[in-house]
Amino acid sequence: MTRLPGNEEIAALVEPDRVHKRVYTDPAIFELEMARIWGNAWVYIGHESQLKTPGDYFTTTIGRQSVIVTRHNDNNVYVLYNRCAHKGAQVVSDGCGHAKQLRCAYHGYVFDTDGSLLHIPREEGYASSTFGRDDPMADIRQVARVELYRGFIFANQSKQGPDLASWLGPAITSLDNAVDRSPVGEIEITGGILRYEHDANWKILLENVSDNMHPTVTHQSTWQPAKQLAKEFPGNEKPLALAMLEPFGSSYEFFDEIAMTTCGNGHTWSGGNATIHIGYPRESKYVQDMIAAYGEEKTNRILSMNRQNTIVYPSIAFKSALQTIRVYRPIAVDKTVQETWTFKLNGVSDDMLHTSVLYNQLIFSPFSMAGHDDYEAYHRIQHGLQTEASEWVSQHRHFGRDRQNGDGVSQAPGTSDIVFRHEFEAWKNYMVAA
Ligand code: FES
Ligand SMILES: [Fe+2]
Repeated sequence: MTRLPGNEEIAALVEPDRVHKRVYTDPAIFELEMARIWGNAWVYIGHESQLKTPGDYFTTTIGRQSVIVTRHNDNNVYVLYNRCAHKGAQVVSDGCGHAKQLRCAYHGYVFDTDGSLLHIPREEGYASSTFGRDDPMADIRQVARVELYRGFIFANQSKQGPDLASWLGPAITSLDNAVDRSPVGEIEITGGILRYEHDANWKILLENVSDNMHPTVTHQSTWQPAKQLAKEFPGNEKPLALAMLEPFGSSYEFFDEIAMTTCGNGHTWSGGNATIHIGYPRESKYVQDMIAAYGEEKTNRILSMNRQNTIVYPSIAFKSALQTIRVYRPIAVDKTVQETWTFKLNGVSDDMLHTSVLYNQLIFSPFSMAGHDDYEAYHRIQHGLQTEASEWVSQHRHFGRDRQNGDGVSQAPGTSDIVFRHEFEAWKNYMVAA
C-alpha cells in the first residue's frame, strides 16, 4: 500500500514563494487531496436550470466520487452517491434524463429520487435478517450537504465547516454579477458541453487560468495573425472573433492592469478596470432593458464589474461577464477532465448568447484557436516536472508586494504569482488541518 505522508511532510511542500513538485506528481498526495480538499470543500455540481422539473437528473463527480443529482418531488435538489445500497452497483450510468424512480440494473431495487428505498424484489427473503427498510443503509446515501446560491448548486461531503455563502466570502459577488446581468435576474445553462481529458494535474489547469505572463508567448500563433487581419477592418467593424483573439497579444503593461484579487479559501478573481473581454459590442436595447429593470446607477455598477475569471477553489473558473464556466474534475495525479459550459441570460436577445458560445468555441473547443496552446503547456509542465532537475516550482513573481485590503482580501498586478501563492495557502490549510 502507498505510504501516505504525514502533516509535517505535507506542510514542508509549500513555502511562501515556491512549492515542491510532488504536489503535482505524487499519487499519495493526490489521494490525500481527494479526501482532504475535495472531501471538505464546497464543490460546484451544476446549475438548477439543468433540473427543471421533478424527476430530472444528471450525473457528475465530486473529486473522484460519482454522484447523481436529482430534483425530487418536494422540488428540492438532492446529490446522491451513485452507488446502490444493495451490493454497490452504480445506479445511473453517465448522463442526464428524467425518471420517476431510480431502478438498479443489477437486482432491481427501486429508489425514490431522494435516494430512499421504495421496492425490493421478493422482500420476504430478508424477514429473518437484520436488513430492513427502516435502516438508512438501505437508501442511496445522500452527500452530507447541498446548497444552492442563486441557482448554482454546490455540495460538500463533510458535515463540518462553514455554510456555502460564508465559505464563498467576497467571491460570491462574481456569482451575483453573472445573474444580475440578466434584466430578469435569471440565467440558464444552454447548448452543449465541452469535455476533455488532459494528461496533467488538476492544479496545473487551474493555475493556467490566472497566468497572465503566458498569453503573449503561448498564444503568439493565434494573436499575431488576428492582429494582422484586424488591420483590414477600419474602426469598429472587425468581426467579433478578431476582437476576442487580438487581446491575447496585449502588452505586459496591459496584463498588469488586469489586477488579481485573492479573498480567502483559495478563491480569487482577475480583472477590474481591464480584462481581455472589454471591447465586445453591446446592444443598446440590452442596456435600456437593464436600466428599466435596475435603474441607471445599479446597471452601471453591474456592467462595469469586468472580472475576467473568478476561481472558486478548487472546482471552477467562471467568466461572469461572459457567462461561461470551466469545471475541473480530477481523475488521477496526472489526469484531469475539464468541462466548459455556457449560460444564457434570460430576458435578452440571443445575440448575447452567441457572444458566449463564440468565445467558448474559439477559445475552449476542439476548433479552438487558443485552447490547444494551453493544452500543450499543461502536458509540458506535467512531463517537465517528472525530470530529476529542480525539486521546486517558482511562485516568486511580485512576492512581498501584495496590497492587503483588510478582511482577508489582497490585490496585486495581473502578472503577479499572488493567485498561485493564495491557492497553495488554501491547499495547505485543507491538507494539514484535516
Ligand atoms: S446491486 Fe443494486 S439491486 Fe443489487
Ligand atoms: Fe492560455
